[in-house]
Amino acid sequence: MAKATHPFLAACRREKSSYTPVWLMRQAGRYMEEYRKLRAEHDFLELCKNSELAAEITMTPVERLGVDAAIIFADILLALEPMGIGLEYAKNGGPVIHHPVRSGKDVDALKEFSPKKELSFVYETVKKISNALNSKVPLIGFAGAPFTLASYLIEGGGSRNYIHTKKLFYNAPEAWKRLMERLANVVTEYLNCQISAGADAVQLFDSWAGCLTPTDYEQFVLPYNKAVIGGIKPGTPVINFSTGTAGLLKQIRAAGGDVIGLDWRVNLDEAWEAIGYDIAIQGNLDPVALFASPKEIKARAADILRRAEGRPGHIFNLGHGVLPETPVDHVIALVDSVHELSSR
Ligand code: CP3
Repeated sequence: MAKATHPFLAACRREKSSYTPVWLMRQAGRYMEEYRKLRAEHDFLELCKNSELAAEITMTPVERLGVDAAIIFADILLALEPMGIGLEYAKNGGPVIHHPVRSGKDVDALKEFSPKKELSFVYETVKKISNALNSKVPLIGFAGAPFTLASYLIEGGGSRNYIHTKKLFYNAPEAWKRLMERLANVVTEYLNCQISAGADAVQLFDSWAGCLTPTDYEQFVLPYNKAVIGGIKPGTPVINFSTGTAGLLKQIRAAGGDVIGLDWRVNLDEAWEAIGYDIAIQGNLDPVALFASPKEIKARAADILRRAEGRPGHIFNLGHGVLPETPVDHVIALVDSVHELSSR
């Protein structure tokens, strides 16, 4: 099938297709035995930087799960490592940044770097996957959105309340602006290089934007997402993904994107109506629903499809990534159910 007519790309452009496409975040994650086996032998960063293995990790779920798009195996924090922040993936813990950014001085001390040169291993991976896929399904590149990257840089890891992050924009708005401009430039160049290497669409992960008030989002986040999305090579669909943002839909739409990614805390029909039917929508099954029986999974998939009303422009996905303990056969049952229920 020609790339231009694949149901995933058709949905990004709100064109009709023969079924609702489905793909998953953390498609190649720890719930897959093939990934765990490779991971037992290699460090996470080593896997990300080995384009041969990263391409293999990307291909496995396409073959095993029957999803309609592949997402490159990488991590949002790779784009921060060249800034000299001491990135480490702790064993059985989340990522750690050993030199967090807490002041204007820290912002200015971040190393300038060329995303084109220093993240070239990612583009190598994209090229390898693109060749291996041979247009079977489209390939999604991705990056963290400036706010989500900034929150990792500032907190030094995951966070519950984002106190340091918010303190920086409350107390040092000029430093915040400099940091966000730097990140927006890095992310734009990084995504465009992934597209040049063969990515068919890109997703911006603003996973932690749900901690913000609508006014703070408008003032401290929206301009930078808008700059990134506006700087992407025309013609490549952009998915603007975030979680916990049911109260920010208007602002997220204003930031842009051909597709808005929704989590499960909002009904898809209500969110789509609020965003507007001139934008495509992605989502939004609760990742924990994959721990229910295949029968229950199918019923929940049917409910989401019913809310989408067969309107062109719906991409089925989870509201966030597949959890490590998820049974693989339940993931396959979901993909099959979406295809069966949506075939027209
Ligand atoms: O979706 C995919 O399969 C593509 C690969 C991908 C990874 N991370 C691989 C990964 C993607 C798209 C990401 C994005 C990412 N990374 C985000 C945004 C999406 C989200 O989940 O909210 C964030 C916040 C990160 C930062 C990060 N990297 C965290 C919080 C962790 C720990 C995750 C956990 O589940 O404990 C990572 C590590 C990571 N990134 C793993 C994988 C497969 C697990 C690493 C391991 O094998 O130990």
